[in-house]
Amino acid sequence: MTDGAAVAASTLLAAAPSALVTGGSRGIGYGIAACLVRRGWSVTLTARREMQLDDAAAALSEGGGAVHTVAADMADSAAVDAALDSHVERFGGLTGLVLAAGVGSAAPVAGYPIHRFDKQFAVNIRAPYALTSRALPLLRESASRGGPRPQIIAIASIEGMHPDRNLSAYGASKSALISLMQSINIEENEHSVVATAISPAYVDTELSAWTNDTVPAHTMIRVEDVVRVVELVLDLSPYAVIPHVVVNRMGAGPHHA
Ligand SMILES: NC(=O)c1ccc[n+]([C@@H]2O[C@H](COP(=O)([O-])OP(=O)(O)OC[C@H]3O[C@@H](n4cnc5c(N)ncnc54)[C@H](OP(=O)(O)O)[C@@H]3O)[C@@H](O)[C@H]2O)c1
Repeated sequence: MTDGAAVAASTLLAAAPSALVTGGSRGIGYGIAACLVRRGWSVTLTARREMQLDDAAAALSEGGGAVHTVAADMADSAAVDAALDSHVERFGGLTGLVLAAGVGSAAPVAGYPIHRFDKQFAVNIRAPYALTSRALPLLRESASRGGPRPQIIAIASIEGMHPDRNLSAYGASKSALISLMQSINIEENEHSVVATAISPAYVDTELSAWTNDTVPAHTMIRVEDVVRVVELVLDLSPYAVIPHVVVNRMGAGPHHA
């Protein structure tokens, strides 16, 4: 590529909307990343395992999408910052932040190992908070450039609204994530930045496989259902905000995963 062509290509990339997707190597994060690529967005996928990231990026790039990857553990605050920096270096800005990386660990509150609590809070709410805080100036800047409305999407959980037995730490971390999205809307809508928490019951992914004995995979919500909610949010007019969507599982009732 000539220098001129390289500059033209990098200008084009800077002009396209771009999103950082945590937990983008598989499951719900990957499904949302694929949807963004289909809509013409450039994406950075982050997760811990480099090989899975490479495979995901290769699959998404097949359709011509610009896909960047950064291996990062969301429990490591330096790695969280580095992931955002790398995205901005690659794409020159940020229009969307998808917070899908998450971990869960089940045990009763009585005697709950506190290191497990710390891990879930680090990945499920500390990293999203840190990323959001640093991303907001970039999202505001994107709003001022035009194009799609800057959007934060956080994959919370129905456990953040209605905790089930043994999921207290996970539920509390997801409750905090729902609250964070509400705070963003209060503080940032005036800058045209919007935030949406999506709280599904069990979705058929690797994360929910531990419960397949009691909740068979074929009875679970599909990743595509969550992706459809994301599409709905992205297609809203500038006059509407959906702060929180709960997705129940057919037959499970409104209060259970
Ligand atoms: N599946 C469900 O039933 C369900 C229901 C409600 C809400 N959710 C939420 O939806 C989100 C996505 O879950 P999923 O079902 O798609 O799970 P998944 O298929 O297990 O995918 C999790 C993704 O997060 C990454 N990840 C996990 N731990 C990480 C860490 N410490 N640092 C960086 N990346 C990490 C994983 O890659 P690596 O392992 O390589 O890091 C992977 O890309 C999570 O926040 C989860 O809590 C899931």
